[in-house]
Amino acid sequence: MAELSYRTALVTGASSGLGRGLALWFARRGVKVYAAARRRENLEALANEARAASAHVEPVELDVANSDNTLARIRDIDASCGGLDLVIANAGFGQEMSGKRLKWEAVKQIIDVNVTGAAATLTAVLPQMVERKRGHVVGVASLAAFRGLPRNAAYSASKAFLSTFMESLRVDLRGTGVHVTCLYPGFVKSEMTAQNKFNMPFLLETEEAVELMAKAIVQGKTWYAFPWQMAGLLGVVKRMPNALFDAAMRKAR
Ligand SMILES: NC(=O)c1ccc[n+]([C@@H]2O[C@H](COP(=O)([O-])OP(=O)(O)OC[C@H]3O[C@@H](n4cnc5c(N)ncnc54)[C@H](OP(=O)(O)O)[C@@H]3O)[C@@H](O)[C@H]2O)c1
Repeated sequence: MAELSYRTALVTGASSGLGRGLALWFARRGVKVYAAARRRENLEALANEARAASAHVEPVELDVANSDNTLARIRDIDASCGGLDLVIANAGFGQEMSGKRLKWEAVKQIIDVNVTGAAATLTAVLPQMVERKRGHVVGVASLAAFRGLPRNAAYSASKAFLSTFMESLRVDLRGTGVHVTCLYPGFVKSEMTAQNKFNMPFLLETEEAVELMAKAIVQGKTWYAFPWQMAGLLGVVKRMPNALFDAAMRKAR
């Protein structure tokens, strides 16, 4: 498979973890990267690290939960840079929460960032990419999208939304010159997983995961689930009948 090449990219959730790593990975390869997140100081530190490596990262202070602002800012960047070649909707977070004690504020926050924020990020550039007949949109979903995992109703469902959203786009955009990739990470070390108190099987280092994700992107893979051990396991879990799935989840917790 021929590798794709980019001049410009925008990565959301670039102030830490996978997004930060992806922003640096592409910047170090000559791509001008717009790095978006809320924490300005983290983005400045990232831009400085890139500059030290003669790479170009442009900090973009952005809260993707504000969808109107997200649409407007990303459209502006797309117009001013001569067209974004790659947009990675990576911003996201999860919060364990039992279905017995659901809190609307927490559910809404997850939907605002993982669902509305990701959809706004991608929708901001897609019409222009289709017009230009080039571009690549990437959604960072999760293996948690494969089933409704316990204590993760909002998170699992938010990632299932992104997964299905990317799948429809993939079908619609075939032949337009615009590529679509959906990524499904398993457990990876990051600020998000640092709060987990349970055992995380096949936990990857951030850099390892970034390398796998970036390669899947440049190879133009339509979807990529990793690490293979967890992807295989969740592939089986996905096909389990409900009774078996429910029993397995009760046991796992
Ligand atoms: N780590 C894993 O095991 C794992 C597994 C599967 C999927 N994922 C997915 O991978 C993505 C990256 O997560 P990570 O593991 O790298 O976690 P992380 O280190 O906590 O990074 C999350 C990023 O999202 C940004 N973000 C959160 N809320 C935002 C908002 N309202 N507006 C803009 N940016 C926002 C954060 O930046 P600010 O706080 O500065 O805004 C941060 O840069 C997420 O979508 C996550 O669901 C992670």
